[in-house]
Amino acid sequence: MGETLKILVVDDDDVDRMTVLRALKSGEPNACVDEVDSAAAAAEALREGDYACALLDFNLPDGDGFSVLNDIRNSGISTPVVMLTGQSDEKMIVELMRAGASDYLSKNSLNSETLLHCVHTAIRLHQANEEKRRAEDALKQSHTQLQEAHHHLQESHEQLLQSEKLASIGQLAAGVAHEINNPVGYVYSNLGTLQEYTDGLCRMLETYEKLESLVADDEPELQRLRELKTELDVEYLKDDVRNLVSESREGIARVKGIVQDLKDFSHVDEAEWQWTDLHRGLDSTLNIVNNEIKYKAKVIKEYGDLPSVECLATQINQVFMNLLVNAAHAIEVQGTITIRTGMGGEDKVWVEISDTGNGISAENMKKIFDPFFTTKGVGTGTGLGLSLSYGIVHKHGGHIEVDSEIGKGTTFRISLPVSQPNQEQAKDSA
Ligand SMILES: Nc1ncnc2c1ncn2[C@@H]1O[C@H](COP(=O)(O)OP(=O)(O)O)[C@@H](O)[C@H]1O
Ligand SMILES: [Mg+2]
Repeated sequence: MGETLKILVVDDDDVDRMTVLRALKSGEPNACVDEVDSAAAAAEALREGDYACALLDFNLPDGDGFSVLNDIRNSGISTPVVMLTGQSDEKMIVELMRAGASDYLSKNSLNSETLLHCVHTAIRLHQANEEKRRAEDALKQSHTQLQEAHHHLQESHEQLLQSEKLASIGQLAAGVAHEINNPVGYVYSNLGTLQEYTDGLCRMLETYEKLESLVADDEPELQRLRELKTELDVEYLKDDVRNLVSESREGIARVKGIVQDLKDFSHVDEAEWQWTDLHRGLDSTLNIVNNEIKYKAKVIKEYGDLPSVECLATQINQVFMNLLVNAAHAIEVQGTITIRTGMGGEDKVWVEISDTGNGISAENMKKIFDPFFTTKGVGTGTGLGLSLSYGIVHKHGGHIEVDSEIGKGTTFRISLPVSQPNQEQAKDSA
């Protein structure tokens, strides 16, 4: 061994101590040996100094070998200890080894050769154990790392699936929206004209009806007219034709809304990246959705300090709108919607929209970002809001997180990077 051997000898008997010392020095002249004569001093020395090995007399005035061993092992010191015993009671020796002694020697038969052999073996054993422990630690650590990596992979796999799903739905939506957009457009506009025409025809009919009273009662054509009026139920027809047209117009307006959602969803209408004040975006979106919210919820704003954020402003507003409308829908009678904003680190901002609504069940939680998943009645929900928002936020390199408790409410938290380092790339993939 290249470095000097540092050994602690513990014995209260001066003669015994000298014997041990001499035996050590004769075989290992360069050894550095410290001596102490009590259990307390031994424990302290072992705690302070980095001894390669300790030679410990079993019987000390202030304690026996067990107490010293327990004391140092409990405080995490693993220095190998060779026990020096007066008599060799086998049972006691087994106990000593169990308590953490590396080896034992009988004081009666002490000689330099066996003593040093014993010391070196104890040190080697100790070193091997340490190495094993280190290897185990390293193994445990890499196991944890592997587990983390696995977990990470699973997460990105799910995210990939989600965006894959969104991409294919997006393509589908773009195609459908494109096909539907035109016919819906002219049906909507024709229905407007039809409404005007029917209004005109009805007015015309009413004027004719006034003429009726001026015609002589025995006129045969008048008789036929009256029969026809009863047969066709003209009174009802006049009312209903107006209803039919305006209902159809409402229906088509709803289809137009959905087509618009689909177009937004598939990013058919591209917008510009610009530096935007998110608070202004939130405020203007609040104005737009005020109708949906005002009877149900008090809106509390807890805005932090935000820098301008580089984003596709109309799309980010769309996200705000979806979250706000969802929050309002989740509140059945009366509640609160809280909007919080703040900075997360130097280059990230976050926006939180919390409601005191009915919350999301664990089962639904897995599906809320899926396109067309909705728990709302026909006509109220399209199930596109959150998948749309998810796509938009991810396109910005951000994240969207949900925290919800049934009966208590839900918080959606969006985090966005302040700037878009790969803006060109983001644009391409938009
Ligand atoms: N704030 C919220 N509280 C409770 N449930 C919500 C909330 N936001 C979304 N959800 C649930 O997620 C579903 C999907 O939402 P979304 O994609 O916006 O579609 P939609 O609102 O048209 O149903 C909703 O139907 C609802 O069940
Ligand atoms: Mg919605």
